[in-house]
Amino acid sequence: MKKETKISHAVIRRMPRYRRYLNDLQKKGVSKISSSEFSRLIGYTASQIRQDFNNFGGFGQQGYGYNVTALHNEISLILGLDKEYKMVVIGAGNLGQAIVNYTYYYKSGFVVKGIFEINPELIGKKINGIEIFDYAYLEEYVRKNKIDIGIICTTKDNAQEATDKLSDAGIKGIWNFAPVDVGVSEKIAINNVHLSDSLHSLAYYINRRND
Ligand code: NAI
Repeated sequence: MKKETKISHAVIRRMPRYRRYLNDLQKKGVSKISSSEFSRLIGYTASQIRQDFNNFGGFGQQGYGYNVTALHNEISLILGLDKEYKMVVIGAGNLGQAIVNYTYYYKSGFVVKGIFEINPELIGKKINGIEIFDYAYLEEYVRKNKIDIGIICTTKDNAQEATDKLSDAGIKGIWNFAPVDVGVSEKIAINNVHLSDSLHSLAYYINRRND
């Protein structure tokens, strides 16, 4: 793998998709795939795929195509999926509970260690075997347990404050679901997730088809 220079967000966003398709191919017992077959399957042009992979030194061989397992493993390494990440969820409402109950993350190395709440009726309960702690102890817990990722599932108004507490405690990444783009220092990675953005663009495409 070539030493990484600055790679665009668009390329990084495509990497998990490449990996998902390669994973499916592996499960079907496919060991190699030509760039044109891969292009047809995933819906990007062969030249787009080549350009994306060239950011990391390129993985294919002229006239051979791609080795499915090798490419899957390389992409996993690029994304940092060879490690385990410790996570906390802030806010144990509908969304927080759904995330904690979605065990796929755990199998792929993203493990929820604790959940934090301000609602006294929820504190002390467990979701999927994971305890809900008092929000007052968030910073101490994150520091002590070297938590990597904080998942913000609080109400909108409390999202920035929770993010600041996580930042002060040395968190490495924030996965924010609250409907506000929270700010963090440059040292901390952040992904703001807005499902409604995806739904609203779907509405656009539905309406455009009827033009
Ligand atoms: P909810 O009202 O069921 O749960 C919010 C929970 O956060 C409550 O239990 C509340 O006590 C707790 N909370 C509030 N401030 C807190 C703090 N400072 N520390 C710890 N806990 C705190 O809401 P729901 O449905 O679970 O949604 C959670 C958030 O996610 C909301 O901001 C909502 O708008 C957003 N959301 C975002 C989606 C997305 O696509 N990004 C999809 C669905 C919800």
